[in-house]
Amino acid sequence: MIRQALPDDYAAIGELLETAFPSPQEAALVCALRHDGDLVLELVSVVESVVGYVAFSRMSMKPTDLRITALAPLAAAEGYRRRGHGTALVTTGLEMLVEGGEDLVLVLGDPDYYARFGFSARAAQELRTPYSGPSLQARALTRRARQIAGTVHYAPAFAALS
Ligand SMILES: CC(C)(COP(=O)(O)OP(=O)(O)OC[C@H]1O[C@@H](n2cnc3c(N)ncnc32)[C@H](O)[C@@H]1OP(=O)(O)O)[C@@H](O)C(=O)NCCC(=O)NCCS
Repeated sequence: MIRQALPDDYAAIGELLETAFPSPQEAALVCALRHDGDLVLELVSVVESVVGYVAFSRMSMKPTDLRITALAPLAAAEGYRRRGHGTALVTTGLEMLVEGGEDLVLVLGDPDYYARFGFSARAAQELRTPYSGPSLQARALTRRARQIAGTVHYAPAFAALS
């Protein structure tokens, strides 16, 4: 089951992120984004308890009024990988962002994984971020977000990442 994260899930989300990633940075990032009010959408995948998580946070690109989000982090608990949790989280998240009127999503990760959701490095090649490179991918959700160029800013909490 995929649903929006609730405050009661926050502890389980923190534990999931701390075990899914080699460092506690991602768990800390989510707490900071939440504290700053920069999370647009948080989804959990639940099998009795939380076994998957994805967050989308607000980005900005001045002077446009495009609504841009960053997909990060995405995680599935180790015993539940390759069972479609990651796919269901990303797919549902993208659908909800479309419904919510978002224009563009950026992700930093393995192109072999994110290509299946319509992300591409090509769509991000005219975008500048601190993480520009082959791992930076984008997916336009609206026509007006296609072929945009410029500097996109992550939410301030990302500045703490090493
Ligand atoms: C990446 C991650 C979220 C994938 O979650 P998942 O629930 O296992 O993904 P899915 O079951 O939806 O996998 C869908 C497909 O992607 C493939 N896949 C899974 N992880 C992959 C990876 N790292 N690279 C490339 N392909 C991958 C699966 O084989 C599957 O392909 P198939 O449908 O042909 O079998 C999970 O492995 C994870 O939590 N990893 C640790 C944290 C992490 O690295 N997050 C991503 C940061 S960008």
